[in-house]
Amino acid sequence: MTHEPTEEQEDRRRQRQAVWARHWASGAVHSCAGSYDDTYGGAIASFWRGVAAAWAPGGRVLDIATGSGALPRLLHGLSHGMLHGLAADLALQLDAVDLAPVQPAWWQALPAADQTRLRFHGGVAAEALPFADGQFDAVVSQYGLEYADLPRAVAELLRVRAPRGQVALVLHHAASRPVTLAAVEMAHIGWLRSAEGLLPTARAMLAPMAQAATPAGRASLAANVNAIARRKRFNAAQEALLGRLSVPDGADVLQEARAAVHQLFAQAQQQGGAAAEAAWSALDAALADAHWRLDELRRCALAPAAAQHLCDLLRPALPHIGLTVLQEGPHNMGWALTARP
Ligand SMILES: C[S@@+](CC[C@H](N)C(=O)[O-])C[C@H]1O[C@@H](n2cnc3c(N)ncnc32)[C@H](O)[C@@H]1O
Repeated sequence: MTHEPTEEQEDRRRQRQAVWARHWASGAVHSCAGSYDDTYGGAIASFWRGVAAAWAPGGRVLDIATGSGALPRLLHGLSHGMLHGLAADLALQLDAVDLAPVQPAWWQALPAADQTRLRFHGGVAAEALPFADGQFDAVVSQYGLEYADLPRAVAELLRVRAPRGQVALVLHHAASRPVTLAAVEMAHIGWLRSAEGLLPTARAMLAPMAQAATPAGRASLAANVNAIARRKRFNAAQEALLGRLSVPDGADVLQEARAAVHQLFAQAQQQGGAAAEAAWSALDAALADAHWRLDELRRCALAPAAAQHLCDLLRPALPHIGLTVLQEGPHNMGWALTARP
């Protein structure tokens, strides 16, 4: 039994769509930009290789919540026998949907023949798929389906699945490495944006930095008590940053912020305070979005009981279900779920 979304759920859906749209428009290759290899690699790629090995050539595949198409990109590579493990050309027909507008740069660079076999559909919710019943030989999703309202999204994916079609999913696990890293990164972003953090203290330095572009400006700064106080606060933030950087896990966000602040200072000197101020606001907004996405990741990650509940939703149509933890060395990278009739 599915239910209609509440007003609050609809608000969150709109915000989610806007935040992810900005993320993918920034050219990110996948949702954890900076923290993982381009296509997540390792255990996740092996899982998909195993799934695709059972597919018949020419099959139709639907990827739900595709983002910038990390999974279609991998499957497309497999389909061409480009990644080892599959020799034959699978000639897959792939449709990929996402709530956000999506048209990845890598897809735009494909030959026209490949583009017709691999279609992206932005602005599409997993809960309301624009496809006729019984179309797809496989429905897949990588770190995507769990963001949707599961009862409604599962009803939809079962509707569009062909009678013999299978489902394969990689899902966030509540005890996984991405979730642990998300907590660390959220704490870092919280600090970066706090009053004594790197961003506000760097912002206070933009006007003095612009002034320091000329010898006369530098001379007047030397005796400016206010500018000296700003410099002290910024130096204290840099000290605190070094302390945080001493623990490498989840520190990418700090490294990136540090590099961005250096760029802002150069911009203040070359283009003036107003231009640097505008760039500062964009950086702050990007970090606020990243915090929102990480929080969303933690909320949507499935604890064992929630993963079992998802299996229960699939089981009436797809009784053969496999649910395992994807292990990458010592790390839990998420759930791997396969379901077939
Ligand atoms: C963590 S990203 C995963 C993207 C991609 N599958 C990957 O592996 O990199 C989650 C994606 O889910 C999308 N999304 C969230 N809720 C959705 C929904 N209800 N329907 C469709 N897509 C949704 C977001 O827009 C975002 O692109």
